[in-house]
Amino acid sequence: MSDSSSTTTVERKDADHRYEILVDGRRAGLTAYRDLNRQRVFFHTETDEAFAGQGLASQLVQQALDDVRASGMRIVPVCPYVAKFLKRHDEFADITDRVTPDVLRWLRAQLG
Ligand SMILES: CC(C)(COP(=O)(O)OP(=O)(O)OC[C@H]1O[C@@H](n2cnc3c(N)ncnc32)[C@H](O)[C@@H]1OP(=O)(O)O)[C@@H](O)C(=O)NCCC(=O)NCCS
Repeated sequence: MSDSSSTTTVERKDADHRYEILVDGRRAGLTAYRDLNRQRVFFHTETDEAFAGQGLASQLVQQALDDVRASGMRIVPVCPYVAKFLKRHDEFADITDRVTPDVLRWLRAQLG
């Protein structure tokens, strides 16, 4: 569990192709991606059960998408959670691309 005194941080782990959210230094969730040129393709988000339902995935995805913008890249929301988040946050519409069959084929090949 996290509470109001917990410290929450988000880190991008380039080597692991993901952003992680840490609560008091403990990993509580992640959102995973692969980069296709300038597109960051998000394909999976998860929160550890002990931390579920506290808005952590929302904080994580918000900061991850802010980082995509800061990096001058674009978002492709294959992950249903990221897609749902974007429906509620139209401030990212200008840097969001559609999920296409080509992207899905490329992603499947990337993930083996
Ligand atoms: C989906 C998941 C990451 C949400 O984590 P969380 O930290 O509890 O999320 P938050 O508290 O920020 O947000 C909860 C919201 O996520 C929504 N949600 C739960 N599962 C979802 C899913 N599979 N796809 C989209 N949205 C989902 C809930 O409906 C809730 O929406 P609400 O705000 O309208 O009530 C977490 O439940 C999880 O790890 N699930 C298993 C893996 C998974 O299905 N990942 C999503 C697809 S890759």
